[in-house]
Amino acid sequence: MNPKLPTPDYTSLDLPPPPRDRPYVLVNMVMSADGKVVVDGTEQGIGSKADQRLMRELRVNADIVLNGAGTLRASGSSSRLGDPALEELRFRRGKPRLPVAATISASGDLPLDRLFFTASDFQAVVYLAHSTPPERCEDIEATGRHVVLLPAEAPIEAMLRHMRHELGASVLLCEGGPSLNAQMFRLDVIDEYFVTIGPVIVGGEKTLTPVEGEPYTRETLRQLELVSAVSNPATSEIYCRYRVRR
Ligand SMILES: NC(=O)c1ccc[n+]([C@@H]2O[C@H](COP(=O)([O-])OP(=O)(O)OC[C@H]3O[C@@H](n4cnc5c(N)ncnc54)[C@H](OP(=O)(O)O)[C@@H]3O)[C@@H](O)[C@H]2O)c1
Repeated sequence: MNPKLPTPDYTSLDLPPPPRDRPYVLVNMVMSADGKVVVDGTEQGIGSKADQRLMRELRVNADIVLNGAGTLRASGSSSRLGDPALEELRFRRGKPRLPVAATISASGDLPLDRLFFTASDFQAVVYLAHSTPPERCEDIEATGRHVVLLPAEAPIEAMLRHMRHELGASVLLCEGGPSLNAQMFRLDVIDEYFVTIGPVIVGGEKTLTPVEGEPYTRETLRQLELVSAVSNPATSEIYCRYRVRR
């Protein structure tokens, strides 16, 4: 627990070493009390400042912060920590002050004027599908960001291998969205799932939940083990940390 705030301390997670072919993978999401992750097109309005602080604390542990292109288009994305003290903590641990930001896209339809492409205080990698139109690849490369073309077969596994072996990443923090989360859960490459439950109801039959894609069955349900659940009376939020059972 953080002694000053009714929140957990996510700056110093005690994480096991990564597997051989991928980083150790954390997923972080915020959802409403009815399990929805989007209101008016983005996640904004579901989590409080305390939740956003925890999101940044989680980034302290990460070598790479990943968002799907859908999230980059809707909300923008970066790997910033928003607090020099958090950057200093990383620095003292021998890590770069900011994690690398990453995104994945097949269309190549990315907002090249967003911070992800224009910021100079963090590095960023763009993973593109085999099928991405070449002119889109060129436009993205022209921003100066590192572009990696993924194979048609098993692209997510190839991305994770690249992160582990070429970028030397031990910890990947995936911050959604739901369709990327779904693929990663399906491939069984997620190790821990962090979710904040916000005290609001969003509703809507088609409103996104943290994990989209094909549903599991009773036989194939993805099983989790609760590591911690901390309630915050000041915000009425609950901060949950689960480990994926294998
Ligand atoms: N509440 C929260 O914590 C939270 C967190 C994150 C996001 N969100 C919200 O979730 C929404 C976005 O979610 P989403 O599920 O639509 O999008 P998403 O998961 O962020 O991104 C999906 C996109 O990523 C790319 N992609 C995924 N898998 C790929 C693969 N194997 N190969 C190549 N590209 C791949 C594709 O991009 P292209 O379409 O470019 O091909 C795909 O359309 C936004 O409204 C956002 O605000 C909420």
